[in-house]
Amino acid sequence: MNISVYFCSMESADLLLLFLLPLASVDTDTLSGKTLFFPQESANSFVMLIPLKPLSLDAFTLCMRLSVDPDVANQARRETILFAYRTQNADELNVWQEKGKISFYLSSSGDAASYSIPLLSVFRTNLCLTWESSTGLAAFWVDGKRSTLQVYKQGHRVQSKGLVVLGQDPDSIVGEFDINQSFVGEITDVNMWDSVLTGRQIGQLSENEWTGPTANVLNWNTMQYVVKGNVIVVPQKYY
Ligand SMILES: *[C@@H]1O[C@H](CO)[C@@H](O)[C@H](O)[C@H]1NC(C)=O
Repeated sequence: MNISVYFCSMESADLLLLFLLPLASVDTDTLSGKTLFFPQESANSFVMLIPLKPLSLDAFTLCMRLSVDPDVANQARRETILFAYRTQNADELNVWQEKGKISFYLSSSGDAASYSIPLLSVFRTNLCLTWESSTGLAAFWVDGKRSTLQVYKQGHRVQSKGLVVLGQDPDSIVGEFDINQSFVGEITDVNMWDSVLTGRQIGQLSENEWTGPTANVLNWNTMQYVVKGNVIVVPQKYY
């Protein structure tokens, strides 16, 4: 099936249906309390998250809880994809651990907001990323602590009609993934809001004392997802 023919004209929900047909495992359950474990490097294992609304965004907060095996992630040959949102024409929002830094790219493969924050470890890190178009202010938040601000892509807008993918960089979602960019480790609590949360709210997230607004773009407790390849959905008792 030639997915690319359909890619530009379809809404992401229709597009997902195309993907669902040949896939083994479509989960009607949610990910609430669960963790996705990518046990080894691969060029074919990934998870697609189905957003609650189109990612047409002039501001966002993206949070996730992550752990990696540093013996894999810190090899010189590797770049590790942490989050990818890809439309037909662009990597709209990619988050990486690469070259000793954590970075994110909006609609670019060269011009990143790049941060020398502590790299991910074997223990889970609560990582959030905030950005808003009006000021261009961007920051990473590590276990509730904010990095220094950067100004990045002021006036830009994240475009809708793409796919949210964990585990692989979908530069070539219709072809091959690059094993040296795959994610190896655990991901849970991927949530996205269409606004920049306050520092106090992000602090609460890392303390698991959430009283802020419900995540309205990606919501780990309610969104649907599709697993492809060797990804273990870890039961709640390990949460
Ligand atoms: C991954 O890295 C290894 C080691 O550098 C290399 O031999 C291999 O060709 C790379 N694979 C791809 C798909 O780039």
